[in-house]
Amino acid sequence: MSVAPTCRLCAGPVHQWMDLGRQPASNSFPRPDETGAERFFRLAVGICADCTMVQQLEAMPTDHMFRADYPYRSSTSDGLSRHFEEVAGWLRRTELTGHTDLVVEIGCNDGVMLGALGAAGVRHLGVDPSAGAARDAALRGAEVRVSFFDEAAAIAIRAERGPARVVFSANTISHVADIATVFRGVDRLLTPDGVFVFEDRYVGDIVEYAYFDQIYDEHFYLFSVRAVDAMATRFGFELVDVERISIHGGSLRFTVARPGARPRRDSVTRMIDDEARYAIGEYETYRRFARQIDRVGTDLVALLTDLRAAGRRVVGYGATSKSATVTNYCGIGPDLVPFICDTTPEKQGRLSPGMHIPVRPHAAFVDPYPDYALLFAWNHAEEIMLKERRFTAQGGRWILYVPQVHVV
Ligand code: TMP
Ligand code: ZN
Repeated sequence: MSVAPTCRLCAGPVHQWMDLGRQPASNSFPRPDETGAERFFRLAVGICADCTMVQQLEAMPTDHMFRADYPYRSSTSDGLSRHFEEVAGWLRRTELTGHTDLVVEIGCNDGVMLGALGAAGVRHLGVDPSAGAARDAALRGAEVRVSFFDEAAAIAIRAERGPARVVFSANTISHVADIATVFRGVDRLLTPDGVFVFEDRYVGDIVEYAYFDQIYDEHFYLFSVRAVDAMATRFGFELVDVERISIHGGSLRFTVARPGARPRRDSVTRMIDDEARYAIGEYETYRRFARQIDRVGTDLVALLTDLRAAGRRVVGYGATSKSATVTNYCGIGPDLVPFICDTTPEKQGRLSPGMHIPVRPHAAFVDPYPDYALLFAWNHAEEIMLKERRFTAQGGRWILYVPQVHVV
């Protein structure tokens, strides 16, 4: 029998529950002449028998995922932009009430939240390894240090600007396999009574709604409240609050503080109890989920194959990172989906990671409309379906594949 790999957080045994096969970096969109240089890894996920953290068994190297030309931009979704403006307002009302309070955002991308805080006169700094995203953030008036966030970066920031009252991060903390470096940095940077607030996808929602395409290279960890609680404690902090938010199909906003610095809200134990009821920390739950993923993959390929045989045109909508998992796991290439439309200029004219489906601007979707649109950006379904009501009005149909394959 082979020895189980060990947990990145507690060194407990990690039991694999799914292997999604050979996968590319989900945000590396090669130009047609660059396909030979793509890097792949084995996307396998397991759960730690001790701390219950769901995690990948092999990590895609960080410097390959988050490069200067990282193409993702939060601002391409109106819903996300609104959300980050609301977060800025909430932080101003609750935490950043002093004149000189500093907020540091890890992985600030194109700076929607920091731009809003900067406009309100709040001292801020973003930390992000993508120079391209940092340039876009600067256009919003956000100041960004182009680097990864680790202990050395935190020491440098503190020396330059003093301690931070708030360290914030959205959809980034779960990306860092060596999460201890992040916590060491936060420890260096945070005031004694400051808070570290981070938002990430919730594994409870991923399992409940079968959002299997949330599993991709960048989502090294899939967080539960129980596992994050244990993680915070391990790194010398305390999880004091947790809140459900609807972003990306279901996320959590965690608030972490130094032990005893803040009262611990009931939400934490309430959610840990709920997770126990739904067996979120148990291997069997994930094995069941894996069987469901298998079925969705088979059904999706069958549907696309039938539609092609019937002469129907299907195009992809939204060249999401999630779509890398779906297309590579199912083996969906340009023969089944001739192109994916996406509004992000950085992705257009390039190919989808691994399966090399061309990415085209939105204009290609409209002229002429396809018969079916495969909605890879299902997390923005409401916004997109409203925007595209002419597509459905003239007979177009949407294909969705979570929690199962269906056409609307
Ligand atoms: P996300 O699911 O990771 O937020 O990525 C969404 C992708 O979908 C991103 O590449 C932008 C694209 N997109 C569109 O092309 N049109 C839209 O209306 C929206 C909301 C997103
Ligand atoms: Zn563990």
